[in-house]
Amino acid sequence: MNQAATSVGNSAAHDAPAYVQHAKLKAWVKEVAALTKPDRIYWCDGSQAEYDRLCNEMVASGMLIRLNAEKRPESFLARSDPDDVARMEDRTFVCSKNKEDAGPNNNWIDPVEMKATMNRLFDGCMRGRTLYVIPYSMGPLGSHISHIGVELSDSPYVAVSMRVMTRIGTPVLDVLGEDGFFVPCVHSVGMPLAAGQKDVVWPSSKAEKWIVHFPEEKSIWSYGSGYGGNALLGKKCFALRIASIMAREQGWLAEHMLILGIQPPNGEKRYIAAAFPSACGKTNLAMLIPPNALPGWKVTTIGEDIAWIKPGKDGRLYAINPEAGAFGVAPGTSSLTNPNCLDALNRNVIYTNVAMTADGDVWWEGLTKTPPAKLIDWQGKEWTPDCGRKAAHPNARFTVPAAQIPCIDNDWENPAGVPISAFMFGGRRSTTVPLVTEAKDWVSGVYQAATMASETTAAATGAQGVVRRDPFAMLPFCGYHFGDYFKHWLDVGAKLAHPPKIYSVNWFRLTAAGKFLWPGYGENMRVLKWIVERCEGKAGATDTPAGNAPRFEDIDLNGLDISRQQFDELMSLDKDLWKKELQDHDTLFESLGSRLPAALSEERKRRGSNFA
Ligand code: OXD
Ligand code: MN
Repeated sequence: MNQAATSVGNSAAHDAPAYVQHAKLKAWVKEVAALTKPDRIYWCDGSQAEYDRLCNEMVASGMLIRLNAEKRPESFLARSDPDDVARMEDRTFVCSKNKEDAGPNNNWIDPVEMKATMNRLFDGCMRGRTLYVIPYSMGPLGSHISHIGVELSDSPYVAVSMRVMTRIGTPVLDVLGEDGFFVPCVHSVGMPLAAGQKDVVWPSSKAEKWIVHFPEEKSIWSYGSGYGGNALLGKKCFALRIASIMAREQGWLAEHMLILGIQPPNGEKRYIAAAFPSACGKTNLAMLIPPNALPGWKVTTIGEDIAWIKPGKDGRLYAINPEAGAFGVAPGTSSLTNPNCLDALNRNVIYTNVAMTADGDVWWEGLTKTPPAKLIDWQGKEWTPDCGRKAAHPNARFTVPAAQIPCIDNDWENPAGVPISAFMFGGRRSTTVPLVTEAKDWVSGVYQAATMASETTAAATGAQGVVRRDPFAMLPFCGYHFGDYFKHWLDVGAKLAHPPKIYSVNWFRLTAAGKFLWPGYGENMRVLKWIVERCEGKAGATDTPAGNAPRFEDIDLNGLDISRQQFDELMSLDKDLWKKELQDHDTLFESLGSRLPAALSEERKRRGSNFA
């Protein structure tokens, strides 16, 4: 295949191109190449021409299908191996020298043992393939909040996806200079090719998959999977697991949060960062369109998955979106649930595991009310509505440049970041947790975030309604002990002259008969409006055992068919359920042992007496 590799002229001795100035980077690439033994090395420059060339090569090899040029210009479909369709939490490891430092929230193996495993697996694993060198910046190039990584991968799908999801190539090397810091990330699909062996459409390792982080070295090794967060190492591996460790060392926050801007009709624009576990509608919230009943309010998007947040000299927190694209779940995305997102998807998109129509367009469950009469499903098989299978995989994805999101904020690439007025933490809870509450202070807000939880959906686990504690929506993503992480949040807040307010939200409360009490989607704007008005000191609230809460008259429900009685049900606190909830908090806290900050145990005691 590789015209790209030969055209760049990297020699068989694996020397870097002359423009690479960073001695440590050059030596590391050589060292990894000596271990993995690729046929070629290709340094990505990040240009459009390079992206187009790699996509064309993948179309020729069968890894990508070019979609209908009129309906989906410059867009492609990839179909993964059926065993390689999602992030794998049980194959993800944080290998700190001291087991305790990884905490009960991470899988751990001794780093010496893990290094031996990696050396065994990576020995010769890129034979017959090209090693792509992908220098990338998480965050706008040169921002004081941004950081650089370099991913070495034997997957061209990873190379082009990284160009959408991050800023890659020669400009990143320019910022890195001769000795800048970078996070080394090595990725292989784990399927070397013997001489003459024909490749498969989606190479991956059936035998074993590993996603491994070394906190002390700040390095990442990923083997065996070519999918999403397992392979695009800038996302969950660097921007959350390794960055959370860097953030603790350096006094900032790396969080699983969307960031949105809210412009009131006649007021100051405010920014909110919000953490939700997977499957809680994060992308929809980040691109929300306010209802007509709230004229003049406008929502803009800075990011939809990850936020890097640093204290500013003025005592406020400033956030950037470290990513440059969205890797979102396609099923459920429609002109009703998220018209902004659907708009973004009409060109320059890499789709993975969605269904295809006869005329080369895409389809997924929820896109239209009535499915097309015939499709090719995500595995390439013929599909009809009555065949009993899903057309798209439930975790089918789109990879789209953030700049294409119609409501993208003008400041989304501002290197200084945007000031955060409030944090929101939410989960999917059918009972117990009210629509919205405001923490009385930073410690109580950290307690709320630390004890948040979400109910599993049948699609994810096969079990409906099991409550999983997911502190700060970081359970699969915090790279170190949760007790230390909670302490870090307490420490950051204690130093801020103007800490953001902290809110807990729950869009998913049900009636006894199992119906949603809150309409959700665009109507969530009413909660955002209340939060903004609280930040401005305008909106009222009442003191409850769970925090400050809006009364019926405090929140703008104009144009919504919700009675006072229904609203009170949505906000109600059931003493018995809360006693059980607090016992569950105890179980979480006990698992953290002596690393649980005393301030949180004290807050737990206060809450116990509130609900006595
Ligand atoms: C994601 C996730 O894919 O959180 O963003 O699982
Ligand atoms: Mn996420």
